[in-house]
Amino acid sequence: MIEFKNVSMKYKTNGAIALDDVNVRIDDGEFVFIVGASGAGKSSFLNVIMGQEKVDSGIVKVGPYSLTTIKRRELPYLRRRLGIVFQDFRLIPKMTVYDNVAFALRVIGLGEKKITKRVRYVLKLVDLASKSDCFPNQLSQGERQRVAIARALVNNPSIIIADEPTGNLDPVLSNDIMSLFDKINALGATVVVVTHDLELVHQFDHRIVTIEEGKIVSDIPARANRNEDVSFASAETETKEESENG
Ligand SMILES: Nc1ncnc2c1ncn2[C@@H]1O[C@H](COP(=O)(O)OP(=O)(O)OP(=O)(O)O)[C@@H](O)[C@H]1O
Ligand SMILES: [Mg+2]
Repeated sequence: MIEFKNVSMKYKTNGAIALDDVNVRIDDGEFVFIVGASGAGKSSFLNVIMGQEKVDSGIVKVGPYSLTTIKRRELPYLRRRLGIVFQDFRLIPKMTVYDNVAFALRVIGLGEKKITKRVRYVLKLVDLASKSDCFPNQLSQGERQRVAIARALVNNPSIIIADEPTGNLDPVLSNDIMSLFDKINALGATVVVVTHDLELVHQFDHRIVTIEEGKIVSDIPARANRNEDVSFASAETETKEESENG
């Protein structure tokens, strides 16, 4: 479970308000989209969950950890429960697909036999078993993101967090990647995906939390969101302009 109670957070370097009295609870096994305009605070929300930013006030709980009191030495244990996926994949160019995925398990000192078993399993899950020996630059964009997802899954984390995971992908690949998150969610992981792409969001039936200027301004549960008008300022403007032009 992830829980924010009256959470506010400012960046110390410039005083930018990133989160402003945020209250939200994400239960185990949920799939939540976080949407909102650029600068709304979406990545900041994820940064807090990952223990990368400390909040100024309020309470944050991620699984058994209270992030307001977590010790620095406990952070690696928190992060092992999280699988993180970024927009720009962040693969290691000089390592094969296999080694990119195996890396996290080597770091924690797992035996090679167990590593092989686990890496093969997750590469099969993302449908990349045949690309094991390729290097990242030999893969398509969608394949690279699937490697990044396999890497996020390899530790068997209970929570998967993705920040604009389809930001560099075309609509068809974006849909494939989101379907893969669906599959991962069906296998039991809690999934939190930040995206700008409302069209994509509406192709799936999941809870949608909208952030605006650091505040949660709407929270629509799954099964009710398909016909709702979920939009934020920039998306609304775009739609208007498009309909005027067309
Ligand atoms: N490292 C940082 N240092 C200082 N201010 C920051 C930092 N990161 C973000 N901010 C500021 O905090 C606010 C929230 O930013 P955040 O990155 O969370 O937005 P976002 O919703 O993820 O936007 P985008 O969709 O563009 O990624 C913005 O005002 C931003 O300028
Ligand atoms: Mg962001």
